[in-house]
Amino acid sequence: MVEKSIRIALCSLCFILCHSFSALAAAPDENTQLKDEDSFTVDPVLLHDQIKYNMRKSLDLDDDGCYLQPGKKESIEECGFNTTVKTILIIHGWTMSGMFESWMHKLVAAVQRRESEANVVVVDWLGLAHQLYPDAVNHTHQVGQSIATLLDWLQEEVQLQLEDVHMIGYSLGAHVAGYAGTFVKGIGRITGLDPAGPMFEGAESHKRLSPDDADFVDVLHTYTRGALGVSIGIQEPIGHIDIYPNGGDVQPGCSLGDVLSTAAAGNFVEVMKCEHERAVHLFVDSLMNKDHVSYAFQCTGPDRFKKGICLSCRKNRCNSIGYNAKKMRTRRNSKMYLKTRADTPFGGYHYQMKMHVFDRKKADDADPTFYVKLYGSHNDTEDVSVDIADGVGLNLTNTFLVFTEEDIGELLKISLRWEGPSDSWSSVLKHLRSSFWSWSSSQNKKVLEVRRIRVKAGETQKKFTFCAEKTEISPGQEVTFLKCRDGWEVKPRKRLHY
Ligand SMILES: *[C@@H]1O[C@H](CO)[C@@H](O)[C@H](O)[C@H]1NC(C)=O
Ligand SMILES: *[C@@H]1O[C@H](CO)[C@@H](O)[C@H](O)[C@H]1NC(C)=O
Ligand SMILES: *[C@@H]1O[C@H](CO)[C@@H](O)[C@H](O)[C@H]1NC(C)=O
Ligand SMILES: *[C@@H]1O[C@H](CO)[C@@H](O)[C@H](O)[C@H]1NC(C)=O
Repeated sequence: MVEKSIRIALCSLCFILCHSFSALAAAPDENTQLKDEDSFTVDPVLLHDQIKYNMRKSLDLDDDGCYLQPGKKESIEECGFNTTVKTILIIHGWTMSGMFESWMHKLVAAVQRRESEANVVVVDWLGLAHQLYPDAVNHTHQVGQSIATLLDWLQEEVQLQLEDVHMIGYSLGAHVAGYAGTFVKGIGRITGLDPAGPMFEGAESHKRLSPDDADFVDVLHTYTRGALGVSIGIQEPIGHIDIYPNGGDVQPGCSLGDVLSTAAAGNFVEVMKCEHERAVHLFVDSLMNKDHVSYAFQCTGPDRFKKGICLSCRKNRCNSIGYNAKKMRTRRNSKMYLKTRADTPFGGYHYQMKMHVFDRKKADDADPTFYVKLYGSHNDTEDVSVDIADGVGLNLTNTFLVFTEEDIGELLKISLRWEGPSDSWSSVLKHLRSSFWSWSSSQNKKVLEVRRIRVKAGETQKKFTFCAEKTEISPGQEVTFLKCRDGWEVKPRKRLHY
């Protein structure tokens, strides 16, 4: 199912991009050239008409708001622009419909609720964004310049403090914010929500969002799956911190099956939209759930993160995601990771577990899969299969990541069991047919031993060690680990002789 949905999403991606590019390349005659030139010699006043600064005054979405008009000083007062508070600019991206999508309303409402005093301004460049993708890309530069003009003007007229300005840009809008930050230096913060990849990946830093564009640039990457050399969301890190939820590629709840159950059937573009737009919804979540902060952890790559190696908060190695992110200027292009739930509240709980797996008897070829279940003071988890990329290392210490969606409270107990590949039903049946007796007898002799599990909770940074009374496990058996008593030392067990 997953594979199929990916294939379909890639086809849609291909369709959209090819459509854009081919339409552009199809008619390289004089008309097109004229048209291209036109869009670059466009009268600045005309262009201005296409970029509007809609200041949101009430939570009522039907309220038209008020337009800030650079050059018209009275519009500042009319709109009730307040220089002593934060100014938050929200910038949309490329649009196929030419209209605001529903995420815009959600984001605006969440920003207004969180910062009720702030000046919330929607940068409306729909006319310039409702074009073939490459043309919309070409307009990002001018829209950025126009925003810079607005900010300069506000500085001049009402002494706007640039460090109080926070621009939030989605997709192409992130690069628009980047250009704005290039033209006016000293902006406080830019948040890039899955900044667009096509035509920006690998571009020089002044031609895309970069850490030079604001005092703090934080980026959420949610749809960075490459296809044919392009990815809808930019893959490379382009901020001070770059957060890749769920590895930045496959978002939970966005598979074709999940999406079709909620969207109009057959609309495969929804799958792509779900993952690209997830950045916005994670940001909205961070605005609304102030008490349920999600943390991301610095790591060199998704594979190491999946192994649970990177759950440290020392030396600013972790940060809260979205609106609550702490300014971290010392780092650039710092990649951070976390896992999330499929829906709001997106935050969950990360645990790093380490256990030494001893191969006690005839288990050299066991290729085991481990399952853990966590018991907490509030709740328990289901059986979770332990994902160890290269397989469980025998006679080695294995590190892995366990993610729970529910808050289980304080971790009290862990149960552990393992199964070999031959324990699945299909192979059991196969063996039943061939050599049941030899299979079952050889199987019973395989024994692994785990004496203790060391656990670190990412969210609390607390560390515990869990010990077991009985430490040897055969396939299918379950062993329970409890918090070790103080000073508990596992004595080397006497070798059992069979
Ligand atoms: C601007 O905001 C400040 C802080 O919230 C408030 O005290 C002040 O009255 C506001 N000024 C105007 C003109 O609304
Ligand atoms: C973007 O504009 C430049 C001129 O500034 C032009 O050379 C280029 O072809 C345009 N690109 C696209 C994809 O339209
Ligand atoms: C692990 O060590 C035991 C004895 O120390 C040995 O018999 C067994 O073959 C080793 N297994 C692997 C997979 O190295
Ligand atoms: C415990 O977790 C389950 C899901 O694993 C959830 O359905 C249930 O509501 C949780 N109970 C409490 C008390 O949080």
